[in-house]
This record gives sequence, structure tokens and C-alpha cells, in this order.
Amino acid sequence: MAAVEKPHTGEPAVDWSKGAAWVVGAFVPAADAKVSVFDWGFVRSDVTYDVVHVWHGAFFRLEDHLSRFENSVKGLRMALPVDRDGLRDILMGCVRRSGLREAYVAMVMTRGIPDPSWPKRLPSNFKGNNQLICYAIPFVWIMKPEMQETGGRMIVSEVPRIARHSVDPTIKNYHWGDFTNALFEVEDNDADHAVLIGPDGYVAECPGANVFAVFGGSVVSPVHGALEGVTRKSVHELCDLLGIPNRNDHITRDQLLDADEIFMASTAGGIMPISQVNERILSNGRPGPITKRLHETYWAKHDEGWHTTPVDYDG
Ligand SMILES: Cc1ncc(COP(=O)(O)O)c(C=O)c1O
Repeated sequence: MAAVEKPHTGEPAVDWSKGAAWVVGAFVPAADAKVSVFDWGFVRSDVTYDVVHVWHGAFFRLEDHLSRFENSVKGLRMALPVDRDGLRDILMGCVRRSGLREAYVAMVMTRGIPDPSWPKRLPSNFKGNNQLICYAIPFVWIMKPEMQETGGRMIVSEVPRIARHSVDPTIKNYHWGDFTNALFEVEDNDADHAVLIGPDGYVAECPGANVFAVFGGSVVSPVHGALEGVTRKSVHELCDLLGIPNRNDHITRDQLLDADEIFMASTAGGIMPISQVNERILSNGRPGPITKRLHETYWAKHDEGWHTTPVDYDG
């Protein structure tokens, strides 16, 4: 479908070129996607979300993202207004309207707006008021492709990751206070990315990405304190396919600073090499060999149709 709809009806054309959203039960251009200032998603970060990408006209690991989103919604005691088929149709509808072949596709569930007569301390009473918002916008890169050629500069943040028993990082959320503080540090240090250490003293994750370290040929990702990333799942599967040992394990700050290679993984950018951590240059300031192999295989697998669901652009 073209980005501009209804060209022959005489009605004003709708411009979908910046993306499409589904809000309060209707499709609207991305620029018109708005939520109320009274929604607890805004007022209290009482919200969960997920993001899947579309690459060369196909969703990547759509069912994994839908499963994680359903679990997150359940974990926050919210209720989706549609079943899985309905949700898939809405996401398809957003991408179809946008016409985007490479897209960042989000599904967001907010607590909604309380009825003034309800006691505010019981969020489960909001069932039925929970708001589902979905949108497709042009693909988002946490690390630009040019930087992925050389690798980014990472700092180990002095800001501790919020305790996982306070805010569960496996429920994808907007509690970005610690991440935002870490990003201020990134700015102050003229770096590109940050990784945060959990209160247990182990490496947790990065703002918007999981972190991996390579030690003696083995790829290691933290056990706790991080989102169970779908890209992280791909990394483990690709390692298995390529015969690279891989595991989730505790990583201390000192171990990370001494790693052979470091990379990040996220839907918004894929497998992203780090070539400097604090003062230490890794792999002569280039992506390490295992990182490079994983990065290349990850994108090649997209073109082979690995875990892809084609978008029905004409539906
Ligand atoms: C905090 C955090 N960790 C990890 C990730 C990576 O998860 P995924 O690979 O599922 O995109 C994200 C993605 O946005 C994230 O926000």
C-alpha cells in the first residue's frame, strides 16, 4: 500500500509516510497518536511495551515478541482488549498503512485513566480501562550502521541499575531514571553507550540493549537484572549454529573491563560491537572476530527468512 491513502476519493489524503498508529481502537497517522495526561502510563510509568522490527518487508521473531508482551501485560495485572490474532492484525495494519519495509513496531499497554470514584491504590481495578497503543515508525538504530563498522565507546556507569526486585527488568518498562542518568554520564564522558551494574555487583544491561562479553572464545550474557532480550535469544541460537560456546553467567565489573570482546544486542540495531570500554581499547579499536561473525550472520539470516513473518502489504 502506498504511504498516502485515499488518493481518488476527493477526501483529503492521509499522510502515513511518518508511520501509522493504532490508538483508542482506530488507525491514525503516527503524528496524531496521543495519550491523555491523566493516563497512569504517563503519570506513573505504569506501562509495559514491546518492540519488534520489520526488515526487508518481514517481521523478525514476531511470535517471541507477542509472547513476551502478553507475559508483561499479565505481570502488571493488566488485560489486553484483543487476543493474539487481533494484536498481530493491528501490528500488520500499522505496518501496512505506513508502507515501511524497515520499521520499529511497538505495542504499548498503559494502565489507563482511573475512574475518579475508584480507590487509587488498587491498579487492578483499572481492568477495562487499560489502553493498548501500537505503532510502526521508521527503523530505529541505537547504534548507527556506520558506527557498527568500527564499534562504539562504552562506559561502565557509576549509576547502579535499579534493583530487580523493585522494578522487574524482565517486564519491559519505561522506568528509565537510572538509564537516563547513565546517559548523562555518557554525554559527560564523550562516549557512545553505557552499561549499568546491578546492586548485586554484577553487570546488568545497557539503556535499550543487552550486553555480552567474550572470554576465551565463549560468549557470556548476564543472568539477572536484564530484560530477556529477543535479540539475546537470537545471539544464543546463532552461537549454537556457529559452534560458539555461550551461556548466561554472572559477570563482574572487573571481568567486563578485561573481556576479549564486548557487544550489545537489541531489536533497535541488532548486534552492536563495542571497541572501547572505559579507557581500554578492544581488538585494536575494531569489532572483535566473534562479534563480527555474529553480526554478519544475524543480518544474513534475516534474508534467509530465519524467524521471519512477511508483512501483508496489500491485505
Ligand atoms: C532495557 C533493555 N534491555 C534489553 C533490550 C533488548 O531487548 P530486545 O532484544 O528484545 O529488543 C531492550 C530493548 O529495547 C531494552 O529496552
